[in-house]
Amino acid sequence: MEQADVIILGAGAAGLMCAATAGARGRRVVVLDHAARPGAKILISGGGRCNFTNLDVRPERFLSANPHFCTSALKRYDQHDFIALVARHGIAYHEKTLGQLFCDGSAREILALLLAECAAAGAEIRLSRRITDVGHDGTRFRVATEHEVLVAGSLVLATGGPAIPKMGATGFAHEVARRFGLAVIEPRPALVPLTLAGDDLAFAAPLAGVAVDATAAIGKARFREALLFTHRGLSGPAILQISSYWAAGGSIDLTVLPDIDLLAHLKARKDERPRAEVKTVLAEILPARLAQALAAGFARPIGETGDKALAALVQRLRPWRVTPSGTEGFAKAEVAAGGIDTAGLSSKTMAARDVPGLYAIGEAVDVTGWLGGYNFQWAWSSGHAAGEAA
Ligand code: FDA
Repeated sequence: MEQADVIILGAGAAGLMCAATAGARGRRVVVLDHAARPGAKILISGGGRCNFTNLDVRPERFLSANPHFCTSALKRYDQHDFIALVARHGIAYHEKTLGQLFCDGSAREILALLLAECAAAGAEIRLSRRITDVGHDGTRFRVATEHEVLVAGSLVLATGGPAIPKMGATGFAHEVARRFGLAVIEPRPALVPLTLAGDDLAFAAPLAGVAVDATAAIGKARFREALLFTHRGLSGPAILQISSYWAAGGSIDLTVLPDIDLLAHLKARKDERPRAEVKTVLAEILPARLAQALAAGFARPIGETGDKALAALVQRLRPWRVTPSGTEGFAKAEVAAGGIDTAGLSSKTMAARDVPGLYAIGEAVDVTGWLGGYNFQWAWSSGHAAGEAA
C-alpha cells in the first residue's frame, strides 16, 4: 500500500490543473487515469487549437442548478490567471471571435504546459490505470487499480462527464460521488446538434452543409452565431449554444439574418429588379441553396409576385419556431450538462460538505459553460480551487 496526500482520478484539464496546484503546495500528488495518454479532450479541442479560455468569462455564462456556485472559483482563478500562465510558457495565441482565445499553433502546447507544471510541482501521473475500487477506511481514502493500492487523506474526482464515450469518457465520477452519498443531477448532452423530424427535417436535410447567420432563442437565452443545416437537423454554434438550454418537447425560435427586414428587402427589389426570380433576389442575402428552397413554388418573376405571397414567404422564416425531436446524444455532445450536485460541495474549495477530504472538479460537477472556452476555464478554476485546499 502506497501513501500519498492527494489522489486525483482523471488526468484531464481539471485534474492536471489541480495536480499542479496541490503539488506546488508541497503535497504528494498521484493522478490516475484509465487512458494511455493524458488530456485527450484538450488535444482535440477547438479543432486542434484549443479554445483555452474566453476574455469575457462571467458566471451567468454557465448553467447549473445553482447559478451562483461557479462565481467564487471563477473569481479566484480567472481567465487572466490562465492567460498569464500561457504567456509564461511562451505559447502564442489569438482571439478568434467573441473573446475566444485559441493557440496559434496546437492544442498540444496547452497539454505540454499542464504536464510541465505537474512535473515542476512533483505531481506524479500514472496512466493506463483501471480503477478497481474506491473506498474509505474511516480516516483515509483507498484507491485500488490493477497495478497498485494507494491511500490518501484527499481524493479528487476529476474524470469528467459522459460526453464522447468513444474517447473513454465515463460517468465514473458520478458513480463514486453517489457511493459517498452525494446527489447527482442526471447528466444530459449539451453543446450538441439537434435532430428534427417531419416537415422540419424534410426542409433541413436537403440543405445539409448550408450555414447562415441566425439567432436561436429559448426564453431569455439568445445566441447569435452561425446556424448549420445537417442531414439530421440543425447544428452550428448558435444551435450548440441553445441546445444546452433545450429540454425535450420544447421549441426554439430561430431568426435567420436578424438584422435584415426581409419583407422590405423583397419589396424594394420588386421595384428595382421586377424581372428577377424570387430565388435570385433571396440569394443576394441568403446562401443560394437556402434561397432556392425558400422560393420553391415561386416560379414567376418577383415583379409578378403579389406582396401577400412575399409576406407568406417571409413568414416561413419569421418567426421560425422549431420543435427538435431530440439531440444527437452524448456521442456528439461537446459536454455533459448536469453532474455532481453543487448543493453538496463548497463553492470555495470544491470539497464535499459531508465527506471530509473528498473533492469534485471540472465537467463532473453540475456546472456547464457556454461554447467558447468557458468549459476549460471552469476546469482551470475549479481545479485550482481544489488544488489549493486538498
Ligand atoms: P476531461 O474529460 O478533460 O478529463 C477526464 C479524464 O478522466 C480523462 O483523461 C479520462 O480519460 C479520465 N477518465 C474518465 N473516466 C475514467 C475512469 N473510469 N477511470 C479513470 N480515468 C477516467 N471546451 C472549451 O472550453 N474549449 C474548447 O475548445 C473545447 N473543445 C471541445 C471539443 C470537443 C470535441 C469536446 C468533446 C469537448 C470540448 N470542450 C471544449 C470541452 C472540454 O474538453 C471539457 O469541458 C473539459 O475537457 C473538461 O475537463 P475535465 O478535466 O473535467 O474532464
